[in-house]
Amino acid sequence: MTNQPPRLELSRLHKRFGGLIAVKSFDLAVYPGEIMGLIGPNGSGKSTIMQMIMGVVKPTSGSILLDGTSIEGKPVYEIARAGVGIVFQHSRPLRLQTVLENILLGLLPDSITRLRPPHGARARATAIAEECGLGAVLQRLPATLPFADLRRLELAKAIARDPGLVLIDEPFAGLTRGEVSGFAALISRFREQGRAVVLVDHNVKSLVSLADRAAALYLGEKIAEGTPAQVMRDETVRRVYLGGALTAHPRAATPSPAGPPLLEVENLSVTYGKAQALDRVSLTIAPGEFVSIVGLNGAGKTSLFNAISGLIPATGTIRWNGAPRRRATPGAIARAGIVQCPETRELFGAMSVLDNLLLAAQRFEATETASRLDWLYTLFPILKSRIHQESRTLSGGEQQMLAIARALMLKPRLLILDEPTLGLAPVILGQLSEALARLRETTDITILLGEQNVTFALPHADRVYVIEHARLVWEGPPARFAAEAGEGYL
Ligand SMILES: Nc1ncnc2c1ncn2[C@@H]1O[C@H](COP(=O)(O)OP(=O)(O)OP(=O)(O)O)[C@@H](O)[C@H]1O
Ligand SMILES: [Mg+2]
Repeated sequence: MTNQPPRLELSRLHKRFGGLIAVKSFDLAVYPGEIMGLIGPNGSGKSTIMQMIMGVVKPTSGSILLDGTSIEGKPVYEIARAGVGIVFQHSRPLRLQTVLENILLGLLPDSITRLRPPHGARARATAIAEECGLGAVLQRLPATLPFADLRRLELAKAIARDPGLVLIDEPFAGLTRGEVSGFAALISRFREQGRAVVLVDHNVKSLVSLADRAAALYLGEKIAEGTPAQVMRDETVRRVYLGGALTAHPRAATPSPAGPPLLEVENLSVTYGKAQALDRVSLTIAPGEFVSIVGLNGAGKTSLFNAISGLIPATGTIRWNGAPRRRATPGAIARAGIVQCPETRELFGAMSVLDNLLLAAQRFEATETASRLDWLYTLFPILKSRIHQESRTLSGGEQQMLAIARALMLKPRLLILDEPTLGLAPVILGQLSEALARLRETTDITILLGEQNVTFALPHADRVYVIEHARLVWEGPPARFAAEAGEGYL
């Protein structure tokens, strides 16, 4: 590998956003046929590096060589033409174009005067779609695709022009175990095709088994480089990124089953057109209880949560605090104490971090607001150093932290967390886990957690439900989960 010249060479790459140094004098070489893993805590500069290589973000200084030729500061289309493809952290397909058209777009010539696809482009787009596992959905619109297919579409777009360098930002986030291994197989094929790959992901296990080498970032600086195993053993990497293993938080006493349940859901059904998203789901949650709902993508978790939060129409009955709930607006439901931290985050992008939090604090006195803010900042220290930043410019994990913090700010009676672990660094998962444990010890909060990440969902739960194809198929204590329902999750 190393007897060839590098495909990509970064030297002293530097990026400053106002007063913040996001990437600091960063050096890296990546060779053809090599997968380079890039890890680091949330906000450490990984996506910024990828975006500088692609030309989406202009470097403040430093150089980027692609096959020996300087590309830094060039426009995106030129960098794409020179042989770089990218999978962004967030999928952004064109909504009105089919899967095939989305891929085809990447094959259009650059000249505006010749917007017809070149000869053979359709066949090439079809072949790429098939290679990426999209053969069966070529004519579908992105909005109708399951999450994993949307990520496949991004992968297909990234390799449409047969790039020599592929940048892949968090391909595994939100995917199930099975989907992750399918993706890993696709990415390792890129290596066999002689492409150089830069891969960012917080799924450390999958990244380590896939990458040939790895580099770790912290506060924009490289803190370790070597084989993945060497980097993971590095003491600083362990401290600032990996953290310790999640510990179980079994409770001394199970919450009082004597009184009426806080939430009682009976025969809840949700349909989208012809599709049944939730099929006669019944469940109860006692005051103070922590209930985890485990299920794969598309199983119906989000539909269940949205129905409970009053965001989508549903049939069936919901009793809150012993009383049946009728036609309540989402606002009234939230004021009654049901607060959801949605999978889609729903931040006010043009508002600062602080304003997003203050919006949630409207009904509190100033002193209470201040003490809640303090508590949230100890939970997520990086948010404190970003309070005046527009929330749309936050890194993926920082946005997730803000969404969770905002939900906590509202002081919910029932907190619904939909896939809170998405995009968070391992060390933050540990902090969040500790914080949830403390919340339960010190307040009477009731928690409903939806996860496919059972390592996070099980340690806290008093009770677990498994949801599959719109139905609850299992219920029990976490201790019985592995033996009775763990297949496909563990
Ligand atoms: N336009 C911007 N203005 C100000 N700060 C920014 C801007 N874009 C990014 N940042 C900050 O730069 C830092 C690096 O962001 P980056 O997206 O590269 O992090 P990351 O390592 O990809 O994190 P994650 O793992 O959470 O995705 C973050 O703290 C982010 O808030
Ligand atoms: Mg990122």
